[in-house]
Amino acid sequence: VVPKPLEVKEEEDEFDVAAGKSRVTIFYGTQTGTAEGFAKALAEEIKARYEKAAVKVVDLDDYAEDDDTYEEKLKKETLAFFMLATYGDGEPTDNAARFYKWFTEGKDRGSWLQHLKYGVFGLGNRQYEHFNKIGKVVDDQLSEEGAKRLVPVGLGDDDQCIEDDFSAWRESLWPELDLFLRDEDDTNSAATPYTAVIPEYRVVIHDPSVVTSYEDSQSNMANGNASLDIHHPCRVNVAVQRELHKPESDRSCIHLEFDISGTGITYETGDHVGVYADNCDETVEEAARLLGQPLDLLFSIHTDNDDGTSLGSSLPPPFPGPCTVRTALARYADLLNPPRKAALLALAAHAVEPSEAERLKFLSSPQGKVDNNANRLRMFGSDEYSKWIVGSQRSLVEVMAEFPSAKPPLGVFFAAVAPRLQPRYYSISSSPRFALHRVHVTCALVYGPTPTGRIHKGVCSFWMKNAVPLEKSHNSSWAPIFIRQSNFKLPADPSVPIIMVGPGTGFAPFRGFLQERMALKREGAQLGPALLFFGCRNRRMDFIYEDELNNFVEEGVLSELIVAFSREGPTKEYVQHKLMEKAAYTWDLVSQGGYFYVCGDAKGMARDVHRTLHTIVQEQERVDSTKAEARVKQLQMDGRYLRDVW
Ligand code: 2AM
Repeated sequence: VVPKPLEVKEEEDEFDVAAGKSRVTIFYGTQTGTAEGFAKALAEEIKARYEKAAVKVVDLDDYAEDDDTYEEKLKKETLAFFMLATYGDGEPTDNAARFYKWFTEGKDRGSWLQHLKYGVFGLGNRQYEHFNKIGKVVDDQLSEEGAKRLVPVGLGDDDQCIEDDFSAWRESLWPELDLFLRDEDDTNSAATPYTAVIPEYRVVIHDPSVVTSYEDSQSNMANGNASLDIHHPCRVNVAVQRELHKPESDRSCIHLEFDISGTGITYETGDHVGVYADNCDETVEEAARLLGQPLDLLFSIHTDNDDGTSLGSSLPPPFPGPCTVRTALARYADLLNPPRKAALLALAAHAVEPSEAERLKFLSSPQGKVDNNANRLRMFGSDEYSKWIVGSQRSLVEVMAEFPSAKPPLGVFFAAVAPRLQPRYYSISSSPRFALHRVHVTCALVYGPTPTGRIHKGVCSFWMKNAVPLEKSHNSSWAPIFIRQSNFKLPADPSVPIIMVGPGTGFAPFRGFLQERMALKREGAQLGPALLFFGCRNRRMDFIYEDELNNFVEEGVLSELIVAFSREGPTKEYVQHKLMEKAAYTWDLVSQGGYFYVCGDAKGMARDVHRTLHTIVQEQERVDSTKAEARVKQLQMDGRYLRDVW
């Protein structure tokens, strides 16, 4: 459904450096497209500033066919930039994983990169423990291997305004690049102010009596595609959908099963599923109204001109068309996240009302702007941006409603205003040994008021909440999905002890683990001890899968079920408190070679459990904090302390 971004073709690879041009390569490791967007924006600006620069933007996944060619290719680079996002538990993005592994785990190659000058910009979030780990590690490693760092590593923080961080880092680059890329006879180019152009797709409107829309033809979409991935998802039906919370609960958690029979999709216990859900009708209709576009208008977007020449911009590949405005807004537009500053600037350019344009420009202005006329600092645009947009969690649709005169055309809206709607990832809560033709998901509903009084409904969880299963209707809900592999796996030997910590929906992968152990047991395998620390608020509300859990215990698949109820007694009981009570036994199992697993919220629970584990090691081994830390690190390195956190 979502086309793969432009691939770097082999013939392009030896790009023209003959005509006095200097080669500049910009690599990106992206998950949701932000790093890719920054890479393309940087490329555009370098091209605009320096005539002699031959710039190429490269998806790290497409750089080398196999690991052996990285070295040879990198040796040819002379000037390179890396835009690298950090995800999950301090991990590289999927498209950077292979490169990262090769680059950081490789042999000592000496100072083989001395011909390379480089800069790294990292994308991360300060709320997480491993803030910008990937950017920092690659930056250090490049330097260690002899490359020359042009500017300090940029540490983009998505908790604040990552666009400002990127702008500041980029500004620090120009004085350095002037030294290599400015033509000697060109005294002007460095001084030329650069204004980013607002990208725009070419739009074609289609006559519905002549063309069938893509969504009609899509019902025949061929499944069984062997290379399913984020860019090639597979359409599957919802087979089962049910509420897991008990009636007394005022929240919701959905158990959902996708039917993957006949699709060619395979998965392993512990993997993740990526789900492309649609925006709900209410949001889609509001967005169309604000854009002044009829929902049934049939259109397509293109990155080339009428004559076939490329628009030459940094646009992502178009989504499939022709399709209606309704489909495009439902499937491809991120409408509920706060808009980026670049989006506000694009809206400003199309605001007919001058006061609206002014306010939008102000909101999008970068931090640290001084009002020279008054010769004093005034309220910065970015302060207002972080308060009025980020702090109030104003969605794109909400912002557009405040600026009704800003109605960008569809080509601008999809290129510069609304980012592409991203798939949501879930830890699969089944095992293929138990449910070969099903992928199970356990999903907590994201639902609640924002500071402006809007009720925020998470796109995918809300879709799952309203999904109609095949059990109930032939006209069941469906979604494009794909599988993402993970390292969160059971030990190869089922007799090895396991300790699982997973409160709330953090239980999801462990349900798969327990199903797998059930299957193994039935095949005659000898199972080692298995402890599960589960946590929920109250037995009468959110003790999800209670019967199944009791059954796992009865069957001897789970040796002990330890539940922390956080809102039953006078004090909060959390999984880590229960873990502490079982410190000696837990550590005994781990010392025997056991595996320790944690799944769930990274910022709170997983951090606290990590500290508890550290304390347990310290007390049980009677060592100091530094030694305990080293033991925990070693467990991680050995792959016996595994985390699936978000
Ligand atoms: P609470 O909502 O009562 O604070 C599943 O979400 C369970 O995890 C709930 O019982 C929740 O408790 C609990 N929880 C919240 N924060 C936690 C933390 N930092 N560590 C462990 N459990 C936590």
